[in-house]
Amino acid sequence: MGFKETVVLLSVCVVLTYATPRLAVIKPGKCPKPSVQANFNRTEYLGTWYEYERFGNWFQILVECGRAEYGVNAADQSISVLNAGTRRFRVFGNPITIGPVSIVGKATTPDPTKPAELTVSFSEFQPTSDTPNYFVVETDYKNYAVVFSCDTLPGNLLNLQFAWILTRERGVAPADLAAIKANLSAANIDVSKLFIVNQENCPSS
Ligand SMILES: *[C@@H]1O[C@H](CO)[C@@H](O)[C@H](O)[C@H]1NC(C)=O
Ligand SMILES: *[C@@H]1O[C@H](CO)[C@@H](O)[C@H](O)[C@H]1NC(C)=O
Repeated sequence: MGFKETVVLLSVCVVLTYATPRLAVIKPGKCPKPSVQANFNRTEYLGTWYEYERFGNWFQILVECGRAEYGVNAADQSISVLNAGTRRFRVFGNPITIGPVSIVGKATTPDPTKPAELTVSFSEFQPTSDTPNYFVVETDYKNYAVVFSCDTLPGNLLNLQFAWILTRERGVAPADLAAIKANLSAANIDVSKLFIVNQENCPSS
């Protein structure tokens, strides 16, 4: 192998090792199925949540200050969803802001007997499905929430995972973080793929 090939190969390895986890968490086999919050009370879940840690995903690439605001749509009693944040990158640790990002959606509960299994969609054009894609794994409503989503890819050989640890207080680790992660690990979710979402110098709303 020549010098150029070696450089290309090394670059590919660097991208796969460092960039890919920020774009997607892909694991072999079918999706893990963590249990969800028992007796989930959506009224208590409404309001603002801040991302404390998350799995890398391509739609939030470089998004810091991530937050979610949940309310009620008067028309159909579905949950209104606003996901917002600031896209910025760092040069030697100094943040350079690209701009604010936000997306509006709505959430429903396809099976009322499973209130912690929600379907979130971000466009009226997005094909609606009764398959839940937002699982509230656990929450104490006042401090933290753990959200998981996963798609098994065709053929069942790989699955694509999404996870968020949310807090009511911006940028403050939940007191139960170790137990939260132990529970996720017990459900076969790789908590080493979680990274802390920067919540410093964020716009107040
Ligand atoms: C859900 O929480 C709201 C607000 O705290 C409360 O009024 C309601 O009774 C709760 N619902 C259930 C089924 O516990
Ligand atoms: C973790 O799992 C245990 C056992 O199911 C449960 O009692 C606990 O509430 C869970 N969450 C935390 C943060 O400890």
